Amino acid sequence: MKSKHLNNCGNWFLDRFPMSKLWNEHMAQYYAPKNFNFWYFFGSLALLVLVNQFITGILLTMNYKPDAGLAFDSVEYIMREVPWGWLVRYMHSTGASAFFIVVYLHMFRGLIYGSYKQPRELIWIFGMLIFLALMAEAFMGYLLPWGQMSYWGAQVIISLFSAIPIIGDDLSLWVRGDYVISDATLNRFFAFHVIAIPLILIMLVFLHIIALHEVGSNNPDGIEIKDSKDPWGHPVDGIPFHPYYTVKDIVGVAVFLFFFATVIFYMPELGGYFLEHANFIPADPLATPEHIAPVWYFTPFYAILRAIPDKFAGVIAMGGAIVVLFLLPWLDRSPVRSIRYRGGIYKKALFLFVISFLGLGYLGMQAPTANATIMARVCTAIYFAFFLLMPIYTRWEKTKPLPKRVTEQPTIEERIPAIKDAFAAMTHEVPTQEHGETVMHTRPNPSGIADAGKSLAKKLKGSLD
Ligand code: HEM
Repeated sequence: MKSKHLNNCGNWFLDRFPMSKLWNEHMAQYYAPKNFNFWYFFGSLALLVLVNQFITGILLTMNYKPDAGLAFDSVEYIMREVPWGWLVRYMHSTGASAFFIVVYLHMFRGLIYGSYKQPRELIWIFGMLIFLALMAEAFMGYLLPWGQMSYWGAQVIISLFSAIPIIGDDLSLWVRGDYVISDATLNRFFAFHVIAIPLILIMLVFLHIIALHEVGSNNPDGIEIKDSKDPWGHPVDGIPFHPYYTVKDIVGVAVFLFFFATVIFYMPELGGYFLEHANFIPADPLATPEHIAPVWYFTPFYAILRAIPDKFAGVIAMGGAIVVLFLLPWLDRSPVRSIRYRGGIYKKALFLFVISFLGLGYLGMQAPTANATIMARVCTAIYFAFFLLMPIYTRWEKTKPLPKRVTEQPTIEERIPAIKDAFAAMTHEVPTQEHGETVMHTRPNPSGIADAGKSLAKKLKGSLD
């Protein structure tokens, strides 16, 4: 009787809302390439972190006070008095860094498999808009705890606007709402962080996924699975997203949560990288910290800004570093998408780009000494050369012939014996004397570890060939 009523309710709803249609179109009958690898976890992980940020953010606002006189103490109150407040806050602060780690890896996947290339340009553009919104979200959120770094970080970044000729001073005044960072700034940043930008983010993520489902996912071989279909019109190298990838993504989620929880419970500040030490001191407009550096995820762009001697030119270069990313689909003229079929020039260029990006990230955290500035200039030159020379070297280089169908990859089961052997080679039994007896202990084997490192590097290189 009860189930009949439930059924009727269900039918009433389904007659009025295209639930089954949406589910089939985007999950059960959405065909994704069967050769997704580890790099394809990061889109769903970004969604997971987005949900985490929303839920923990809403809980934080229940006790946070957006008032320059109360904000710092309200955060301390959340940490010490609110039941589970410390957990919610650490989930949110660690979530911010996790978001950027996941999104940077997600973007890197785009670079190695050419996912931004025709017909997926719009997915990339929406992705870049998400990236911009994410940076604005993180920047504004960082002011809210009203610590020393919140205050002075915002002061430095907003004052950059004043470098713009003619309108600069008025613009930075308009953004701050005052002549210095103040309660007015905190209030507007709170409004943007809590409602305006999250709304924009949700909308952009929705558009990103709709655009993706219109053209279908790319894959590590960078070929179109729609080109080979079975008699029923399904791609032969495609599998329904549900249940295959919903289940596979759960594995990625489990591994991610393991690392996420480890940081939250054992090292929530991560040595000052996730929560900077100076931010545990209340904001003091009269005491400038000795060394002001943004959080790690902004440092590559901050290093580009500082590498240029002229302030306005630095702002232009920093903006340009993001604008070139938008242009990527049109800069890359290669006939193939995936790095597997590109020539050596792209691989080397990408390698140099990654090194320069990581180098800039490191240099942006350091004090600007003369040597550091020279290195930052070299890295900046490599960063821009990677993009601006791309139309030349991607057209020039010889590419490998593309396969008609996606290629076979060894399964996890096939990889397990090799993983076991590698672990066995990394340890050895060492005899030790205990109470006059010889006992064998398992100890790390330095030469085995070095060999495993070498073979891993070789495999990594091989996986790119
Ligand atoms: C909140 C942030 C983001 C979320 C939730 C998100 C979500 C997703 C999801 C679920 C997918 C499909 C699964 C996958 O291919 O991994 C995807 C694909 C994609 N995303 Fe994102 N994304 C985000 C940010 C970005 C950014 C910043 C970019 C680049 C600028 C980007 C570029 C792409 C591209 C090019 C694809 C297609 C990949 C392919 O088919 O190979 N995404 N995204």
